[in-house]
This record gives sequence, structure tokens and C-alpha cells, in this order.
Amino acid sequence: MFETKRLILREWRDSDIPAFAAMNQDPKVMEFFPYTLDLDGTKALVERIRQHFKTHGFGLFAVELKSTGEFIGFVGLMTPNFEAHFTPCVEIGWRIAAKYWRQGYATEAARMVLHLAFEKYGLQEVVSFTAAVNLPSIAVMKKIGLLHNPKDDFDHPKLDKTHPLSRHVLYRLTAKELQDRDAILIEPYNPEWPERAAAEIKKPGMCSLQSIRAFKRGK
Ligand SMILES: CC(C)(COP(=O)(O)OP(=O)(O)OC[C@H]1O[C@@H](n2cnc3c(N)ncnc32)[C@H](O)[C@@H]1OP(=O)(O)O)[C@@H](O)C(=O)NCCC(=O)NCCS
Repeated sequence: MFETKRLILREWRDSDIPAFAAMNQDPKVMEFFPYTLDLDGTKALVERIRQHFKTHGFGLFAVELKSTGEFIGFVGLMTPNFEAHFTPCVEIGWRIAAKYWRQGYATEAARMVLHLAFEKYGLQEVVSFTAAVNLPSIAVMKKIGLLHNPKDDFDHPKLDKTHPLSRHVLYRLTAKELQDRDAILIEPYNPEWPERAAAEIKKPGMCSLQSIRAFKRGK
């Protein structure tokens, strides 16, 4: 279980399934997917997510609001099950229930997941991809500091090329690029930080890695 300022990232509970199924049937949430998921499809997905954690040691976390204990969606890491020019790879992804959109939750959770990807799981690279028309998702990719080279964009191999969602953008970030970068904002919030570091917080729950590194070096 991991914590950000407003969120808990945790393993899945059976009690998450009704709210998750409702999200997966919401045409707004599923606008950029080729299909919605019914209750059985949702149960099967939760099972696949649990299996992914067992196989890889990481996966898509259930996201819970600290203030209310509500399940609001998922953010986490997964390994895509198709072949493309950038696979095998680890993808960071997110799905949040519509009533919680535009409050920074996806970004807050994704920054924590990116931190875990490099610092805890030791990954060399994280990618993220979505239909080129999925602007909210692309905004999250940009906000967490992933990089885009249009040459990486691709047609999803599981969709017909004429499908309106076929064209996908690919964003990526390597551990090295992160290391070389000055102030990427992925260090998760820690309530024990002293005020000097806390003053640097630029987004809810986040502090610049640069300021934390400086703090750790005692500067
Ligand atoms: C993508 C998604 C997870 C974003 O969740 P969120 O919690 O609203 O994201 P945030 O609040 O952190 O927003 C990040 C930024 O995305 C952009 N954004 C979010 N929703 C947007 C919308 N409906 N229209 C335009 N931009 C949007 C904004 O720039 C926003 O930052 P701002 O509010 O400071 O301007 C959510 O829209 C979602 O679950 N969509 C459906 C599932 C999906 O498409 N997942 C990705 C598939 S690959």
C-alpha cells in the first residue's frame, strides 16, 4: 500500500468491483476504448490485475480517496499484451471514475507510480500510450514528465487501421533521462518532511525531486 497526500494506492478488494464495473460501463469513461466492460468483464479484469501483481511484482493499483475511503479507479503499471516497436515494455496507465475528474487525482497517483517504477521496481523505462484523440490522458502523461517523439506513434495492432481510435501516441521516460533532468516532479509526498522541503511542493502531494535531493544532501 502506498500513500500520496490525498490518495491510497492499494491492492484490490472484492468490494471495489461494483464501483469499478459502473466505471467500466460508463460511456464517458470508456470514450477512448473500443468497447465498454460488463460486470463479468470487470471481474475478469480484476483477476488479471491480481495475477499481474503475482507474476511481475507490480501492477495497476486500486486508488482510494483518503478523505472518504471511496474507490475512485486505478493507476499503475502493466505489461502490454501485444507486440509493437516498443514492446516488451512496462506501461503506466490510469482510469478514474468521471465524478472525480479534473481534481488532479490521476496526476497525483501517477507521479507516485512513476517514482515506484524507477526507485522501487528498478525499471529502466516506463512508457504510456493512448489513442491520439485522448487529450485528458495525454495531459497526464505530459504533467508527469513523460517525453514524446512523434516518430514513436503507432497504429494499435489490435484495431483496424480505419478505426477512429487506431492512431496512438507513445510517451516514454527512461531512468537515465529522469536522472539527467533537474526538477521532475515525481517524489511522493512524505508527511515527515520538514517545512523547507514542504515549501517546495508544487502540486498537491508532490515535491520536486531536486528539492528533496538537495534536502537529503543537507543543502
Ligand atoms: C485520463 C484521466 C485518468 C484523467 O484523470 P483526472 O483525475 O481527471 O486527471 P487530472 O485531474 O490529474 O488532470 C490532469 C490534466 O488532464 C487534463 N484533463 C483532464 N480531463 C480533461 C478533459 N476532460 N478535457 C481536457 N483536458 C483534461 C487537464 O490538463 C488536467 O489538468 P488541469 O485540470 O490542471 O487542467 C481520466 O480522464 C479518465 O479516467 N479517462 C478515462 C480513462 C482513460 O482514458 N484512461 C487512459 C487510457 S490509455
